[in-house]
Amino acid sequence: MTPTEAGDELVFFVNGKKVVEKHVDPETTLLTYLRRKLGLCGTKLGCGEGGCGACTVMISKYDPFRKKILHYTANACIFPVCALHHVAVTTIEGIGNTKSRLHPAQERIAKSHGSQCGFCTPGIVMSMYTLLRNQPEPKMEDIEDAFQGNLCRCTGYRPILEGYRTFAKDLNCCGRVANGTGCCCSERENSMNGGCCGGKANGPSCCMKGKDDSVTMVSSSLFNASEFQPWDPTQEPIFPPELMTQSNKQQKKICFKGERVMWIQPTTLKELVDLKSQYPSAKLVVGNTEVGIEMRLKNMLYPVIIAPAWISEMNAVQHTETGITFGAACTLSSVEEVLRKAVAELPSYKTEIFRAVLEQLRWFAGPQIRNVAALGGNIMTASPISDLNPVLMASGSKLTLVSSEGKSTITMDEKFFTGYRKTIVKPEEILLSVEIPYSKKSEYFSAFKQASRREDDIAIVTCGMRVLFQAGTIRVQEIKLSYGGMAPTTVLALKTCQAITGRDWNEKLLQDVCHLLAGEMDLPPSVPGGMVDFRRTLTLSFFFKFYLTVLQKLSKDHSDPNNLCEPVPLNYISATELFHKDPIANAQLFQEVPKGQVVEDMVGRPLMHVSAAKQACGEAVYCDDIPHYENELYLTLVISTKAHAKILSIDASEAQSVPGFVCFVSAKDVPGSNITGIANDETVFAEDVVTCVGHIIGAVLADTQEHARRAAKSVKIKYEELKPIVTIQEAIEKQSFLKPIKRINKGDVKKGFEESDHILEGEMYLGGQEHFYLETHCTLAVPKGEDGEMELFVSTQNPMKTQEFAANALGVPANRVVVRVKRMGGGFGGKETRNCILTTAVVVAAFKVGRPVRCMLDRDEDMLISGGRHPFLGRYKVRKLNLYNEGDLTHFNQKLEGFTLRRCWDECLSSSSYHARKILIEEFNKQNRWKKRGMCIIPTKFGISFTVPFLNQAGALVHVYTDGSVLLTHGGTEMGQGLHTKMIQVASRSLGIPTSKIHISETSTNTVPNTSPTAASVSADINGMAVHNACQDILKRLEPIKQCNPKGSWEDWIKAAYENCVSLSATGFYRIPDLGYNFEKNEGKPFCYFSYGVACSEVEIDCLTGDHKNIRTDIVMDVGTSLNPAIDIGQIEGAFVQGLGLFTMEELRYSPEGNLYTRGPGMYKIPAFGDIPTEFYVSLLRDCPNSKALYSSKAVGEPPLFLSASVFYAIKDAIYSARKDSGLTEPFRLDSPATPERIRNACVDIFTKMLPSAEPGTFKPWSVRV
Ligand SMILES: Cc1cc2nc3c(=O)[nH]c(=O)nc-3n(C[C@H](O)[C@H](O)[C@H](O)COP(=O)(O)OP(=O)(O)OC[C@H]3O[C@@H](n4cnc5c(N)ncnc54)[C@H](O)[C@@H]3O)c2cc1C
Ligand code: FES
Ligand code: FES
Repeated sequence: MTPTEAGDELVFFVNGKKVVEKHVDPETTLLTYLRRKLGLCGTKLGCGEGGCGACTVMISKYDPFRKKILHYTANACIFPVCALHHVAVTTIEGIGNTKSRLHPAQERIAKSHGSQCGFCTPGIVMSMYTLLRNQPEPKMEDIEDAFQGNLCRCTGYRPILEGYRTFAKDLNCCGRVANGTGCCCSERENSMNGGCCGGKANGPSCCMKGKDDSVTMVSSSLFNASEFQPWDPTQEPIFPPELMTQSNKQQKKICFKGERVMWIQPTTLKELVDLKSQYPSAKLVVGNTEVGIEMRLKNMLYPVIIAPAWISEMNAVQHTETGITFGAACTLSSVEEVLRKAVAELPSYKTEIFRAVLEQLRWFAGPQIRNVAALGGNIMTASPISDLNPVLMASGSKLTLVSSEGKSTITMDEKFFTGYRKTIVKPEEILLSVEIPYSKKSEYFSAFKQASRREDDIAIVTCGMRVLFQAGTIRVQEIKLSYGGMAPTTVLALKTCQAITGRDWNEKLLQDVCHLLAGEMDLPPSVPGGMVDFRRTLTLSFFFKFYLTVLQKLSKDHSDPNNLCEPVPLNYISATELFHKDPIANAQLFQEVPKGQVVEDMVGRPLMHVSAAKQACGEAVYCDDIPHYENELYLTLVISTKAHAKILSIDASEAQSVPGFVCFVSAKDVPGSNITGIANDETVFAEDVVTCVGHIIGAVLADTQEHARRAAKSVKIKYEELKPIVTIQEAIEKQSFLKPIKRINKGDVKKGFEESDHILEGEMYLGGQEHFYLETHCTLAVPKGEDGEMELFVSTQNPMKTQEFAANALGVPANRVVVRVKRMGGGFGGKETRNCILTTAVVVAAFKVGRPVRCMLDRDEDMLISGGRHPFLGRYKVRKLNLYNEGDLTHFNQKLEGFTLRRCWDECLSSSSYHARKILIEEFNKQNRWKKRGMCIIPTKFGISFTVPFLNQAGALVHVYTDGSVLLTHGGTEMGQGLHTKMIQVASRSLGIPTSKIHISETSTNTVPNTSPTAASVSADINGMAVHNACQDILKRLEPIKQCNPKGSWEDWIKAAYENCVSLSATGFYRIPDLGYNFEKNEGKPFCYFSYGVACSEVEIDCLTGDHKNIRTDIVMDVGTSLNPAIDIGQIEGAFVQGLGLFTMEELRYSPEGNLYTRGPGMYKIPAFGDIPTEFYVSLLRDCPNSKALYSSKAVGEPPLFLSASVFYAIKDAIYSARKDSGLTEPFRLDSPATPERIRNACVDIFTKMLPSAEPGTFKPWSVRV
C-alpha cells in the first residue's frame, strides 16, 4: 500500500486486553488514549513533557533483535499511540485493585505512608513494578535509580524509599519486622536519639528508666512490614501469546493518518531510505522525546513521521576491531546495558570512553526517557546541551549515514554541527549507526556535567575530554576538549588543544590551558541561558578535574620511579571523585499512645491515609478523572504574551477553521461582574489592558482538548506595549506598592542601635517558588439548566471563594452555585485563591454555551498564570543573636506560653551530635581543598491562626444512617495532607466508634457553607473542633437511648434513635476565641499558639562545580500530642523537602520583559528522590500537650518548611571554608536559592579570578532577578 491510502489498524494490548484501533491519529499520545478512549484514568498527567513521571506505564514487547521480552517504563504523555503496534501496555489498573488484591508495590507504598495527595503515586508504583518485573530481587541502589524520572511534591520521598526498601535484598533490613535491637533501623534510631532506645532496651542503662512509661514510650514503627503480602514474581501476568506470535512474524509496513500528521513505519532499510528521499523533511521518530516536546510545547507541526523502530540495521549492536557500533535507533538504556557489559569484560584501558558515556547516561534524564530515547535522536537533535555529543565528539566517534545515494562514514568532529540544532547531515540522509571507539593504552577520557539538579536534568555545561600521551611519557600526543552549553552547538576547544599538543602534563600546562580556555570558551554577557560567569568557570573547573584525574592515572600507570609525573596533592584527591551517595538511613520517632488507650481509639496512632490504597491503585478520583459528559466541551485559555500592554484587537477568525471549534469567549460574555479575585483587583477576562504575561484575555471552546489548544494558539492579539515593572527593585524605585504598607515599631530602635557595640546590616534576597502541585488547576462546570444553577467540580482549597467568584461572574446568588471537591493532587497554598482565575473563565464559558465545560491547565499555562510564592527582598540591621524564653514577648507583643523551642533545640543538638560532628567537619575541611562540608542548626517558630481573625471558623456536618454508618463532612479540603484521615480519627474518638464506620465523601458548599480556605496549617484544629462539636450534639441526643440500653451496641442505639424520631444529623461549628491584632498599636493576639521545631543539617559542596549533597538532617518538631504521627511526620518531611527546593534549587527565571522562562519540570527543578538528605532523622517532641487545640495536638504543614534554611546555611558554612582557603574571611552575601551557580560563584578561587564579570548595566541580561 502507499502511505496516502487510508490508515492501517493499530493492534496492541492494555492490561491483557486486546485493543484494535481503526482510526488512530499520530498526534494522540498513549496518555490521552488511556484516559479518554479507554477510561483508564489511573495514569496521571502532571506535565506532558516527560519530566515528572506521573504518567509512567510499563511497556512490554518482544524484541526480535535481542530475542527476548522487554519490560520497561515509559512516559505515556509523550509516547505516540502509533508506536504501540504489537506492544503490551500495563497501567496501574492492570496490576492490582482494592476490590480484589493490591499488588505488593501498591500495598507497600500505601502502608508505608508514601502516598499523600496520591497524584504521583501511580507513576511511582509503575516504576517500582517494572523494576520488580525485571529484577525480582533488586538492590536498594536499583530502587533509587528506578525513581530518577519520578517526582513527588508531598512526601519528601523518604517514606516511599522506606516502604520499598522492604523489596531490597542487599540491605538485609527486616523492615522492622524484627522490631528489636537486631533491626538495623533501630540501631540508627538509638544513635540519633542521643543514644536513647525509646525505652525498648528496657535495661538498667535505659535513660527512660524510672519515667512513667505510659507517657514516654517512644516508637519508630510507622508501619508494620510483617503485614505486607509477600512478593511472588511468578504471579505476574504473562506477555500476550498473540503478540509473541505476531512479533516473530515478518512485520509489514504500516501507515496511520490523522488530521494533520501521517505516521509510516517501514520494515526494511530500503523502504526507509526510499521514504526519506520521498519525504526529505519527514521526522524520524524513535523515542519522540524531542519531537513530541517540539510539537506539544513549541507549536511545531511535522506532517510526515517515519518510525524506524523495526529496521534491524538501525537496532543492531556490533563489536568491531575498533569499537562498538550501535544502530542509531538503539535506545539509551540498551546502549547502557551493552557498555556496562563491555566495561566488565574488557581490559580497563580499552573502556575509558565507555565509562565516560556511562557516567553521562547515569545523569541523563530518567529511566522512562532513556528506555525509549535513541542514541541517534540525541545526536540528530543537535542540542547544544546534549550530554552525549561532547563525548562522541571528543572521542572521534564515527557516524554512518545512509541515503538513496549509498552509505558514507564520517567522524564526529568540529564540522559536524553547523549551527543551532543543525548538522551537516542532509535532509534525505539518515543516521544509520554510531561507532563509539575503544580507548587505547596511554589514552584517558573523562566526561563531566553540571546541571541545576543532579538527577533528570539537562546540563548547564557538559563536556567530554580526551588525551593521548606519547607512549611511556607524559607528553601530550593528541588532546580533544569538547564542550556543550558554551555555544549554539557542541564545540571543540581547538585553539587550546593545539597549543598544548606536545607539552608535558604538568602544572604549567594546567595554567596555560586555563588562560587559553578562558579566552576560547567565552560567552557574551547577554547569552541565552544566562549564568555567564558560572558557565565560563565550569569550563575551567572541568578541565582542572580532568587534569587531576589524568595525573592520578598517569602516576598509577607509570610505576617507573623516574617518571616526571607530579603527584596529586592529598587534599586535592577528593576533587576527582565522581559523585557517589552513601546508602540511605533514616528514623522517625514519635511518642506512642498511652498504655490503656482503647484499641479502637485511633487518635495518636499512625493510621494510614484513608485514600492511600485507592491512590496506589489509580482508583482515587481527581477532578479530571470525572467521566466526560456526552455534550461536554473543552476550554483552553487565551493569555497575554506581554507583561504590560493595551489590547488593540482580538481576532479569533482563524480559530474557527480548526476542527471541533465551538466559540471564543471573552469579557463581553461575562453575564455578571468581570471583576474578581481576593482583593477585587483582577478580571475574569482582560478588557483593555493586560498587566502580566499570562493575564487571561479569552478562552476557546472546542470538542476536544487538542482542538481547543490548536484553536487558542491561532487567536491573534494586537497590543500596544506599555512599560512593565518586573522586579522588586524597580517597584521600590517607582514607589509602586501594595497598600496599605504595614509596619511594626517596637521599642526605641534608634537608641538601641546607637548603644550597640556591633551592628550588622545588609540586604538579602529570597527567590520565589512555584507550588508545583502535581495536579494542575482543574475545573469542570456543569450548568444544571434551571434557575441559573451551576455545579462545579474544582481542584480548590477554597470552595467558598470559588463559589462566590463564580456566582459574581455569573451574576447569580451564591445559592445557585455548588462547588464540590473530592480531593486535590496537591495544593500547598497554590489553590487557595488562584483557582478563581480558571474557574470563573470556565463558568462563564459553560453559561454561554449551556453545556458542561472542562479545563485542566497544561503545566506551562499553570506556571505562567497562577503566580506562586513571592520573592522577598529584605534589608536588615541586627544587633544581637538571641533565642526566646518562656514568657518573652514577640516583636508583635504576643507572650510566649508553653514555649518548647529550647527543648527542641537541646534535643536536636544532642541527637545530631552537633558539637562532635562540627569538629569532624573542620577536620574534613582541612584535608580537602575542593570539597567542603558545612553544618547549621536552625530553630523555627510559627504562629498558628489565620491573621484575618474571622477566617478562624469552621463547620461540620455529621449524618448517622440507620445502619450506624456515619457520613462526615467538614469545611476542610483534602489535598494530600491527611485532613480527612485526621477528621475521621477525631469523629471516631468523639463518637466512640471505629474509624471503619465513618466515611468522608467530599467537601461541598451545599453541605458545609461559608468555609474558610484549607490553609494556614490551621484546618485540623478548627475543623476538628467543629467535627467534635457536631459529634457531641449527636451523643447528647443519644444519651437517653444509651441509658435505656447501656449494654447495647452503637447500631442498637442508632436504630432506637431513628425509631424514636431522634435527629441523627448535626452540624458543628467552631471559632478560635480571642484573636485579633492591631498593627497601629502593635497589640492584641494574632495567633492562637505557636509551633516550634529545630533542624540540623550537614552538606558537602563541590567547590569546583557548585554541586552539593545533603549528607544528614536531624529534625525535632513540636506537634503537641500528635493526632496521627505518620501524617505529622509525613508533613514535616514533605515540607522540609519542599523547603529544600526553595532554598537550594528552585529558581524562577524571567526575561527582562517579565516573561517567565521556567514553565515546567524541564527548566524548573523541584527536589527529586536523589536530593533528600542521605541520613534523615525526624523526631516528634515528647510530652508537650498543647492546651490550645483539639486533643492537645498542634498544627503541622507549613511550620517545618523553614527548617530547610538549615541546609542553606550549612551550604554557606561550607562556602566560608572554601573562601578561607582563598584568603577571604569577611562575611559575604549569598542569596537564596543556593543553586550550583551561586555556590560556585561564591567559592572565589584562582579560576573565578581569571574570569572577570561583565560590568552590570553595560549589557542586557538574558534573565533578571524579579
Ligand atoms: C524529560 C526529558 C529529559 C531529557 N534529558 C536529557 C538529558 O539529560 N540529556 C540530553 O542530552 N538530552 C536529554 N533529553 C533530550 C532527548 O531525550 C534526547 O535528545 C533523546 O536522545 C532524543 O531521542 P529520541 O529517540 O526520543 O528522539 P526523537 O524525538 O524521536 O527524534 C529527535 C530528532 O532526531 C531525528 N532523528 C532521530 N533518529 C534519526 C536518524 N537515525 N537519522 C536522522 N535523524 C534522526 C529526528 O528526525 C528528530 O529531529 C531529554 C528529553 C526529555 C523529554
Ligand atoms: S505527565 Fe508525563 S512525565 Fe509528567
Ligand atoms: S503524594 Fe506525591 S505528589 Fe502528592
